[in-house]
Amino acid sequence: MCGIVGYVGTKKALPILLDGLGQLEYRGYDSAGVALVEDGQLEISRAPGRLSALKKLLTEKLTTSTGTNGIGHTRWATHGKPSEANAHPHASEGVCLVHNGIIENHLELRRELEREGVVFTSETDTEVAAHLLAKEIKTTATPLDALKQMASRLRGSYAFLALDERFPDRIFVAKTATPIIIGVGEGEFFIASDIPALLPYTRSVIMLEDGDIAELSPTRCYIERDGVEQKREVVQITWDRTTAEKRGFPHYMIKEIFDQVEVISDALRERVDMSSLEVDLSETHLKEDQVKATRTIHLVGCGTAWHACLVAKYLIESIAGIQCVVDHASEFRYRSLTLHKDDIVLAISQSGETADTLAALLRGGEQCRTVAICNVVGSTISRKADHVLFTRAGPEISVASTKAFTTQLVAAYLLAIALAEMKGTLEQRREAVRALLNLPGAIDSTLKLNDVIERIAERYRTHRHVLFLGRGLCYPIALEGALKLKEISYIHAEGYPAGEIKHGPIALVDDNLPVVVLLPRQNELFDKTLSNLREVGSRGARIIAITDSERHDEIAPYVEEVVTLPFISHHLTPILMSIPLQLFAYHVAQKNGLDVDLPRNLAKSVTVE
Ligand code: F6R
Repeated sequence: MCGIVGYVGTKKALPILLDGLGQLEYRGYDSAGVALVEDGQLEISRAPGRLSALKKLLTEKLTTSTGTNGIGHTRWATHGKPSEANAHPHASEGVCLVHNGIIENHLELRRELEREGVVFTSETDTEVAAHLLAKEIKTTATPLDALKQMASRLRGSYAFLALDERFPDRIFVAKTATPIIIGVGEGEFFIASDIPALLPYTRSVIMLEDGDIAELSPTRCYIERDGVEQKREVVQITWDRTTAEKRGFPHYMIKEIFDQVEVISDALRERVDMSSLEVDLSETHLKEDQVKATRTIHLVGCGTAWHACLVAKYLIESIAGIQCVVDHASEFRYRSLTLHKDDIVLAISQSGETADTLAALLRGGEQCRTVAICNVVGSTISRKADHVLFTRAGPEISVASTKAFTTQLVAAYLLAIALAEMKGTLEQRREAVRALLNLPGAIDSTLKLNDVIERIAERYRTHRHVLFLGRGLCYPIALEGALKLKEISYIHAEGYPAGEIKHGPIALVDDNLPVVVLLPRQNELFDKTLSNLREVGSRGARIIAITDSERHDEIAPYVEEVVTLPFISHHLTPILMSIPLQLFAYHVAQKNGLDVDLPRNLAKSVTVE
């Protein structure tokens, strides 16, 4: 989710790089840096904080710099806190590079390089790539060969731009599973991780493909893959800047819903070993003896994050067998508590700055160990917690949380598995982990239902009340579906445990009430929820069933709509169930002409009580 830019041509590179980074700041902004080749020497400048800090540092250089070749980076931290040392570019012996992506095997490469005497100056995964490149350059004919060798050692996702001071008019590029686009100018090339950075300069672009390695000079763009030169078409971009930022989608919310395949893949990277099917959360520094001693986990969060806490409770109790209690952070902070020193307070927060969640975490920290599941590296909650698991959803701009929520659920699932491993109680680990590996593909298939959900949204968008029902792991998803609809459509919506409606809310049901029923295939839950569905159906409710079961014949007689999702495992069903509800809320709000990304009265991060 970082932003990267490069320029090689005949103009002064620095202003172009800073401008490009400014266009990409929406992708992440905890530090920034640039590197130029000036008179045959690499000159690197980096600064923590927003891009303005780097610009301030470079005020004088903007007039003196003559370099016509350079690379730049704006960082959204995944490995290591936001700091100057962790900011890109990273350098080694006359080469430097910027990176977007995650290197999964960075720890083993780091150990290998350290054994050879390399001294690391940052906590990033990227620095291994800089040292590897410098090492390979010593034994290969060209920097491009060295880049190929370096890339062949890496596992994970990456887009690299590299400079070698011995080749002052060249930029070297490598790409796998992370976007990189080359803008074509007259005697110049612009390179960026995202289209908005290129638009002020050119609309003619070449999209690099996975496995591509490229060498750019002012007059030549050479691309090869597997040792064979590639001829790539130059395409014309017709998007304006805002459309480009949203990857062509009309709103950030729908872009972020569609980001879920990628960010969930990122959330699993280097944490799940595909061959051994093991989960590695050593990054949290949780110790086996602490986990074995844990009596109760107190989960705290607000809004959507509180719904993630409810799902996490189910997962941790059922996978790790540790008792969990869930509280709204705003209640927990003032409640009389009976915390034990061996308890854990687990706070979930996208921003890491929510005032109530922070206060609840600090209060917990007075008496016991604290853990945070958090999206923003360097945020207050992530710094105050004893242990942190980052969700890696990247910047979430739309006020309504979507990808942050599903990555919180992925983090909770990984944590539940890791806790069970440490307690020595994990059963069927291979099945549990294998299911995760199928998750990005299942999300992709679920997103293909977008047109179906859009049609359903059109059918129900004028209703003023909607009920969402679910049981077990799907109950928090019913709450989340209702919250999404309320916050962006201003339609009154309630989520309820399906088994509870006969104790009151069923009085609301008439022949004009849309009821969304979540029907997971798990036998017992399916049967019970189906009988709740019949209870509302026989009172005239207009039912939309969302299910991963194949028992459609039993559902069909009572419902107006059935949405069928792929099935991978009972524990991961809530993640897939969330997606049609996010899409439903989005399409209803959008069709009703509302400001989807900035709903009234709401702020993205609630830093006051
Ligand atoms: C709803 C939403 C909010 C947040 C809540 C907590 O879509 O985004 O309910 O979940 O304000 O925010 P974080 O997760 O930043 O602590």
